[in-house]
Amino acid sequence: MICAERIGEYLKTENVTVKLYESIDSTNAEAKRYALANETGDPCPVLFVAKEQSAGRGRMGRFFLSRAESGIYMSLLYYTDAMLSDAVSVTTAAAAITAEAIEELSGERMRIKWVNDLYNDSGKVCGILTETLAVGERRAIVVGIGINVGQVDFPDALREIASSVALLVGRECELIARVVDGLLRHAADPCDRSYMAIYRERFMLTGARVDLLQNGERIGRGLVLGVDDDGGLLFLPDGQQESVVVHTGEVSIRAVE
Ligand code: BTN
Repeated sequence: MICAERIGEYLKTENVTVKLYESIDSTNAEAKRYALANETGDPCPVLFVAKEQSAGRGRMGRFFLSRAESGIYMSLLYYTDAMLSDAVSVTTAAAAITAEAIEELSGERMRIKWVNDLYNDSGKVCGILTETLAVGERRAIVVGIGINVGQVDFPDALREIASSVALLVGRECELIARVVDGLLRHAADPCDRSYMAIYRERFMLTGARVDLLQNGERIGRGLVLGVDDDGGLLFLPDGQQESVVVHTGEVSIRAVE
């Protein structure tokens, strides 16, 4: 049972406002609306949590299934002075922080698919959508995280790829608080890259042959060598001698069968 007071009790960071919704279109959308409507207001972090989303969004405009009693749907809004290059690392840090928190509370091992999808042995359990926006003089970051928890019946289109963490049922508030504390620790020291060790240990694609996709079209095929310190994909294109770094954005990858 997700409850704002309980999240507040678990949070170690002070001055985080928690807003809980029975149902909303998207916590990321709500966080951005809030930031724009409070341009000159309090710059403290705000956490948006919904029990259900009617229009949950994923990367590249995809839909994120967000049924009631089936997951954690949260977005953390905070403000930063960091350069954009550091903001880019937020999404990589968020994957490492969330993977570690899920593992600690559920005992289930997580693996990370570039950029920031988390998998258990059966499929994808978590997706992360980080967005930045200018709000007057400020730069705001919205880190949206969706985790399937105790969800047993996925629609046909997701049955083969999606999975869920059953052992997080009842521990949702603790998990949310841990992730928020981790994200805000990272925000306080955006140049710190210590989370990369956690990311690399769980990174599941080193040595895999993949296709690079842009807008669903294949733009390259080659071998994944790893990830650099900024979360860029080290990629050796077929037929080439030198690797390149692929940055996130509109690029995704698909394993070559
Ligand atoms: C992905 O898998 O591509 C990212 C999914 C991100 C989903 C979360 S759920 C909470 C927040 N609100 C949204 O609309 N999206 C993110």
